[in-house]
Amino acid sequence: MIHCEGKKGVILGVGNNKSIAWFIAEALHAAGAELALTYLPDPKGRFERNVRKLGDAINATTIEPCDVRQDADIQSLVDTLSNQWGKLDFMVHSLAFAEQSDLGDSFSATSREGFLKAQEISAYSLLPLSGGLTPLMKEGGSIITMSYLGAVRAVPSYNVMGPAKAALESSVRYLAREFGPSGIRVNAVSAGPIKTLSASGIKNFSELLDSVAERTALQRNVTREEVGSTAVFLCSDASAGITGQTIYVDCGYNVMAG
Ligand SMILES: NC(=O)c1ccc[n+]([C@@H]2O[C@H](COP(=O)([O-])OP(=O)(O)OC[C@H]3O[C@@H](n4cnc5c(N)ncnc54)[C@H](O)[C@@H]3O)[C@@H](O)[C@H]2O)c1
Repeated sequence: MIHCEGKKGVILGVGNNKSIAWFIAEALHAAGAELALTYLPDPKGRFERNVRKLGDAINATTIEPCDVRQDADIQSLVDTLSNQWGKLDFMVHSLAFAEQSDLGDSFSATSREGFLKAQEISAYSLLPLSGGLTPLMKEGGSIITMSYLGAVRAVPSYNVMGPAKAALESSVRYLAREFGPSGIRVNAVSAGPIKTLSASGIKNFSELLDSVAERTALQRNVTREEVGSTAVFLCSDASAGITGQTIYVDCGYNVMAG
């Protein structure tokens, strides 16, 4: 097992106990890391309730609101972590958004506003978060984000999220170049499909799960634990030579033809 004892990190994107961010949080906690979590504030406090309960289970040091569309929220997160820990070893960015109406049949009918919103939340947010949090990191710092094959292939109904993930993966390469001289690494994990709240917004997602399972090299879908343990590896010193990459954790689906 890879250890992360002594490391402190923040995870953005826990929405409920099915979120990929939550499985990453559980895996990092089991590996000995100390964690801060964020939640998306909403008027009904739905995410906050879930995240506070989940955070208790992993002894989260701090649980902060952070809507990545708000610069003030990002700054407040940076300030809190700076006061709390004064240092940071890793950041996990596991969040995305697309309007349901932009995940339909016609990609060309994507609204201007919907396209920009998907880009802003799902891709652009990695930039100000990295810019704000890397001053707390020293050599060995690690940034991870979550991507999907729809970045490089035209996946049915994924539509507006495809260009958003393409921008995200490209941003990973540019951030890796920017922060590399400081010894800070930036990578994306491209996971196979997993049933989560966001995934349920993609039309025919259950059919996608079944058809992918038949076509992967391993003849099954990826598990949440496998995504979690890859995140632990990327946050740990075991991956010290890896940066700017999109690591596929998809049971080999992306290499298969036919
Ligand atoms: N589920 C899959 O099949 C799959 C596969 C590959 C990649 N991913 C990616 O994994 C990541 C996590 O998604 P998930 O499947 O766990 O779904 P999820 O719905 O559990 O998580 C998405 C999170 O994004 C957050 N979010 C949305 N708008 C936000 C904003 N403005 N500010 C801050 N947070 C915001 C939500 O609160 C939620 O916690 C996403 O980037 C997704 O694209 C998912």
